[in-house]
Amino acid sequence: MADGHDAMVLPVGPSTQAPMAPQMAGWEPVSVREYEKAAEMMLPKNAFDYYASGANDMITLRENRAAFSRLRIRPRIMRDVSSTSNKTTVLGIPVNSPICIAPSAMQRMAHDDGEKATSAAAGKSNTLMTLSSWSTTPLEEVAAAYPGGPRWFQLYVYKDRKLTAELVKRAEASGYTALAVTVDTPVLGRREADVRNRFKLPVHLTMGNFIGAGGAHAEGTKDGGKDSGLSAYVASLIDRTLSWDDIRWLRSITKLAIVVKGVMTAEDAREALRYGVDAIWVSNHGARQLDTVSSTIEALPEVVAAVAGKVEVYLDGGVTRGTDVFKALAMGARAVFIGRPVLWGLAHSGEDGVAAVLRLMNEELTMALQLAGCTSVDEIQKSMVVHQTAYYTPSKL
Ligand SMILES: Cc1cc2nc3c(=O)[nH]c(=O)nc-3n(C[C@H](O)[C@H](O)[C@H](O)COP(=O)(O)O)c2cc1C
Repeated sequence: MADGHDAMVLPVGPSTQAPMAPQMAGWEPVSVREYEKAAEMMLPKNAFDYYASGANDMITLRENRAAFSRLRIRPRIMRDVSSTSNKTTVLGIPVNSPICIAPSAMQRMAHDDGEKATSAAAGKSNTLMTLSSWSTTPLEEVAAAYPGGPRWFQLYVYKDRKLTAELVKRAEASGYTALAVTVDTPVLGRREADVRNRFKLPVHLTMGNFIGAGGAHAEGTKDGGKDSGLSAYVASLIDRTLSWDDIRWLRSITKLAIVVKGVMTAEDAREALRYGVDAIWVSNHGARQLDTVSSTIEALPEVVAAVAGKVEVYLDGGVTRGTDVFKALAMGARAVFIGRPVLWGLAHSGEDGVAAVLRLMNEELTMALQLAGCTSVDEIQKSMVVHQTAYYTPSKL
């Protein structure tokens, strides 16, 4: 990082990992919201802001949560719920839960063990983890942290196709079973906190998948650092010409399943089907890209209708409660992915924290199943979730 802006470097790292905040002594978070609070107390501001922010006015960020709260569960009673299971399959892979881990970049800013801790926590609970292209740990080391765990690789298509193809081959060789191709990031959304903080990757960390290949450092801008360093990085390396033909190209170079991540409309879902994708992932990138797009739970029904059962559909964005998972599944998602909740657990206590967040959310899902009269995720019915307005128009119930 030779851009002369050392003052902007985040004060995190092996020797500076934030100690537990004094106000937290004896306090164990009991919800994802509380893990977020803990993370906010423990992380340097730049790192917390990078993780927490959405784009611009963060309208979509709030909507990702608010839209879940506008949905009502219609529970069934008097069904024997003495034994329940969260188990399911995702692209044929048996997993203990429909709650999976979304790719999030630069996890070593949250905790020294970073992506390895997430991998171990996921593997031990048989949870599907998606690793970000922008991992701060090489993908091989992440896989080695829990060999054989259910694992996908998130791919950004780089201008340098040779580099992209090499990444795909490395993911294949390390046992990742699908590529989640992120299609919503031709440019990086403007996260104003990152602009203000002149965010960039701390000097002691690297983009672990690109060591020796260039692109290992998400450097700050050279023009006096008026912008987020990450958006300069994206502009220099990510291919803005990305189009459906590139899905064809990926098909030609890999046998891995291809999941498109970032579909928000029925039109694009139909297009994705035409190009033979294996699954569709409804996502607005955690509200970090185009502000004022709809929440993902509001976009889900049109995508599910367009897909008509031909491939699996997943959702991420704002999922922090077991009841959110229940609602997404009732509305047709096969599984949900969580981004920030994992980062909050990681910041709190590394692998243990990620495991605790997964456990907590799964316990909430189990309770939602029991209280709604279901013994498994397969028993969740579409009719069990309605928009709140349905209660004012009884014909909709
Ligand atoms: C800090 C952070 C970094 C992210 N990095 C990536 C990434 O590298 N690749 C990607 O496809 N999505 C990335 N995402 C988006 C997530 O995969 C996911 O879509 C989003 O976080 C889901 O919303 P949630 O955080 O409300 O659960 C990132 C999200 C966050 C919060």
